Amino acid sequence: MKKIAVFTSGGDAPGMNACIRAVVRGALYHGVEVYGIRRGYSGMIEGGDTIFRMGSRDVSNIIQRGGTVLKSARSKAFMTVEGRKQAYENLVGAGIEGLVAIGGNGTFTGAEIFFNEYKIPTVGAPGTIDNDLYGTDYTIGYDTAVNTALDAIDKIRDTADSHDRVFFIEVMGRDSGYIAIQSGIAGGAEAVMVPESLTPVSEVVKVLKSGFAKKKNSSIVIVAEGEKEGRATEVAEKIQKQIGIDIDIRVTTLGHVQRGGAPTAYDRILASRLGLGAVEGLLRGQKNVMVGVVNNRLIYTPFHESITKEKPISDDMLRMVHILS
Ligand code: F6P
Repeated sequence: MKKIAVFTSGGDAPGMNACIRAVVRGALYHGVEVYGIRRGYSGMIEGGDTIFRMGSRDVSNIIQRGGTVLKSARSKAFMTVEGRKQAYENLVGAGIEGLVAIGGNGTFTGAEIFFNEYKIPTVGAPGTIDNDLYGTDYTIGYDTAVNTALDAIDKIRDTADSHDRVFFIEVMGRDSGYIAIQSGIAGGAEAVMVPESLTPVSEVVKVLKSGFAKKKNSSIVIVAEGEKEGRATEVAEKIQKQIGIDIDIRVTTLGHVQRGGAPTAYDRILASRLGLGAVEGLLRGQKNVMVGVVNNRLIYTPFHESITKEKPISDDMLRMVHILS
């Protein structure tokens, strides 16, 4: 393999730039030409200047930057047969023989379909703040997002305490409670509601009431975006109705602030390992797989497993919130 391309796709995540850097420099180290594709699958379909040759200097000074210098997109056109055909023709036209896809669930779903149709060897590097991919303990961007959420939770606790209020803080995670559980534990939340395990509103009401009985005048409840009882506003309304005592409630949705910012050291190192691991895997003949780090070792998991197998939150984490609150 003499020419590969790298792209970022789906929701951006802090550390994607560190991963791009590792892919580019890793490929050059092994004597392989490397191309960048702007705007993920959309850019692949567009072709022309969006597929461009990259050198070592193109990735200077980006390891510390959030976002992605290659830009990202959620491409509807790539979900069509015609779109993927156009993408394939553009890649062949540019002489690309292998791909490194940096992204999450949607990115790897697309990569698997594309591989099955056109057989261009592809290795994925997990880049999503959601940490919802099987085959890696952590995804690129997750650690930074948890720390961003934690910083906000700490600040909200100050004002919650001053005003004796109950705050419901919604954190990201479309179908996943990873950001919620870790930021909740680290921030000393009174309750955490995640899609992976049912915490009925009545349970949270109990926790809050027992807090009040113990003279706890302010509380924090972390609600994952994908929580089955509803979004944070809905959950707060239900609790206000059920609790039967006068409490002062506020709701904060952290939103896209969690997707930005300088990656933590952990994310930079993870992204570098996965970027290099993706290139070296590709050169050793890996295809249709995601590279991950499990128990501190690089492993390759078929795309299909990485997107369909569950990665459950450990029970002890869920128990801990309750015991320590
Ligand atoms: O997948 C990452 C993520 O940040 C999810 O947590 C969230 O639901 C989604 O992306 C938001 O996507 P968008 O930026 O397209 O609104």
